[in-house]
Amino acid sequence: MGRTILVLNGPNLNLLGTREPEVYGNDTLADILAELGPFAAERGAELVDFQSNVEGELINRLHQARGNVDGVVFNPGAFTHYSIALRDAIAGTELPVVETHLSNTHAREEFRHTSVLAPVCVGVVMGFGRHSYFAALEALLRHLE
Ligand code: DQA
Repeated sequence: MGRTILVLNGPNLNLLGTREPEVYGNDTLADILAELGPFAAERGAELVDFQSNVEGELINRLHQARGNVDGVVFNPGAFTHYSIALRDAIAGTELPVVETHLSNTHAREEFRHTSVLAPVCVGVVMGFGRHSYFAALEALLRHLE
């Protein structure tokens, strides 16, 4: 049975490609998604994607995803470190979410070492640049098998 996966991206990820390329690489979010779609298709899955800089819009999208997608690859950006509202949305919707980051947040500033979301996610993939999204998707699909 084909899976539908939501690829959800939070604040400032619309700036990928030009934003701190030494940290986040040169690919735009569109570049990554253009390759992630066929990668999913090869594994019998379909992607839907959404990016927002607004916490409430991410929460609404998670609510809407409930019952409509099988799981979520989520890069919550800086909300990772402090959004209790997003944590409650993940817990409340009971969606299998893989927290995903381009950078290894543990190798960065101390305020990035904490994730308030990780405890309600199935797992976390970080530190592999654009490859983090592919690894997260692969792991999520295997988790759902
Ligand atoms: C990020 C890491 C966060 O700490 C940061 O606020 C981001 C991007 C990453 O993908 O490495 O916006 O989620």
